[in-house]
Amino acid sequence: MFSVKGKNIIVTGASGVIGSAISVALAKNGARLALLGRSSKKLETSFEKISGFGNEHLQFQCDVLNVEALFKVNEEIKKKFKRVDVLINVAGGATKGASTKSEFLTAETPFKDSFFGVDLNDFSYTTELNFMGSVNPIKVFGELMAKQKSGNIVNISSMGAIQPLSKSPAYSAGKAAISNFTQWLAVHLSKVNIRVNAIAPGFILTEQNRFLLFDEKSGELTKRGKRIVDHTPQGKLGTPDDVISTIFWLLAEESSFITGITVPVDGGFSAYNGI
Ligand SMILES: NC(=O)c1ccc[n+]([C@@H]2O[C@H](COP(=O)([O-])OP(=O)(O)OC[C@H]3O[C@@H](n4cnc5c(N)ncnc54)[C@H](OP(=O)(O)O)[C@@H]3O)[C@@H](O)[C@H]2O)c1
Repeated sequence: MFSVKGKNIIVTGASGVIGSAISVALAKNGARLALLGRSSKKLETSFEKISGFGNEHLQFQCDVLNVEALFKVNEEIKKKFKRVDVLINVAGGATKGASTKSEFLTAETPFKDSFFGVDLNDFSYTTELNFMGSVNPIKVFGELMAKQKSGNIVNISSMGAIQPLSKSPAYSAGKAAISNFTQWLAVHLSKVNIRVNAIAPGFILTEQNRFLLFDEKSGELTKRGKRIVDHTPQGKLGTPDDVISTIFWLLAEESSFITGITVPVDGGFSAYNGI
């Protein structure tokens, strides 16, 4: 069950922590991968991790917001792969400039720490990255799937899509947009045998956010880390591996009746209102 052997799979954001973990798991299980990442050095590291596993994999340094570059990559992939079975959109993330420093605007809050202090360019970039950063690859790589009359698309959303994360309005709005689009597209592509789903991870411990969640010296949770764990009924942070089982489940032929959903993988975070 749940075999990915022989599938041709494109992964964006493959140079990141979650994207790399997903890529390794798929490669280990016999898939042939095209990895996309923005930073060539990080992409090379991810590529090295999968190159020991059988197939002739591909790697492309490419910005997911650059549609022209994506079309060029698509030509290369089509030449080598001939068909594409799966697209996993992992590229995304939050930015500091699009976040508010304070959770609430009160009479005491400096305006610069509130929504009114947020840089609109950063706000726009962050929503674009987390929405168009998945829409663009779907538009470019999905056409072949539509012509093949078969395909499978998985977007990485966030629980911020279900309930906005405090201080992260642009990130949450971008992820809400991609979850919403996942449903729309699943309906639109249902007659050409393409399934479209999303995963909404909870707080996953990665090298990038470790310093926000754990105090470097004491190794104890920071104030924010503790708040997150306290709001997670399972009382822990997730790991990139927690996302992988859901990827295999959504890609499986055995899951052919599943389309148009966003699956929370969050230790119960989105089910808990904390009252
Ligand atoms: N970690 C969490 O707790 C968590 C929770 C919920 C959802 N997520 C989502 O999961 C996904 C992966 O996150 P992560 O934790 O693995 O973070 P990460 O290590 O920072 O990975 C982000 C990936 O996105 C790529 N990327 C960013 N902007 C890009 C652009 N304009 N063009 C192409 N690629 C771009 C990065 O490429 P470079 O590194 O090469 O620049 C990297 O490969 C993101 O969509 C994130 O929002 C994460």
